[in-house]
Amino acid sequence: MPALRTPLIAPSILSANFAKMGEEIEAIDKQGADWVHLDVMDGHFVPNLTFGPPFLKSLRPYSKLPFDVHLMISPVDLFIEPFVKAGADHITFHIEAGPHAHRTLQTIKSFGIKSGIVLCPATPPEAISQVLDMVDIILVMTVNPGFGGQAFLHSQLPKIRKLRQMVDATGRDIRISVDGGITKETAPLVVDAGADVLIAGTSVYGQENYKNAMDALRYQK
Ligand code: DX5
Ligand code: ZN
Repeated sequence: MPALRTPLIAPSILSANFAKMGEEIEAIDKQGADWVHLDVMDGHFVPNLTFGPPFLKSLRPYSKLPFDVHLMISPVDLFIEPFVKAGADHITFHIEAGPHAHRTLQTIKSFGIKSGIVLCPATPPEAISQVLDMVDIILVMTVNPGFGGQAFLHSQLPKIRKLRQMVDATGRDIRISVDGGITKETAPLVVDAGADVLIAGTSVYGQENYKNAMDALRYQK
């Protein structure tokens, strides 16, 4: 098995102060974040609403870090180009959002950005076995999508392990990111299972000192 990598840290702005989002993004950039995670919700695929491409565009000047855009919307395809134009570096979408994940991946890749696919807690790892040649990022939800601050679902750990095996078998450099309930207690569990990107809202933006919070997730005992 390949050596475990130090995980990348992707703070989720869902838990930041929306009234001063530019400064919130500058702060995590200066304090060592690797990616900025932006949660897009449509009130249909998930029971919550957030923001669209204009908000992303307005934030783009505040950081050169990759904007990791997590689309919790259905349908997906119509919105890919607007998010690319607004400054997305990665677009991840849910395999459950339908109808044609392969076509959606083709569309994302046609813009030359990184493509990602997300699995909800009830979705088995095999659901994405036929598109592993097209993904750069696999995002495992360790809560049900829609809200920050939920409790980590330990039932997802075997799925992360299985996906790590599937990824290693491809020989491709695919990141496995984990989203939901990531804390300094759960981070070592997901990294041990094979995750190499930690998405965290409450555990970064809910803390006083963002640098210490990110270091606590990244450097595990
Ligand atoms: C939930 C979002 C997450 C959320 C995580 O649907 O995808 O990115 O911000 O929040 P925490 O880290 O608080 O569980
Ligand atoms: Zn997310």
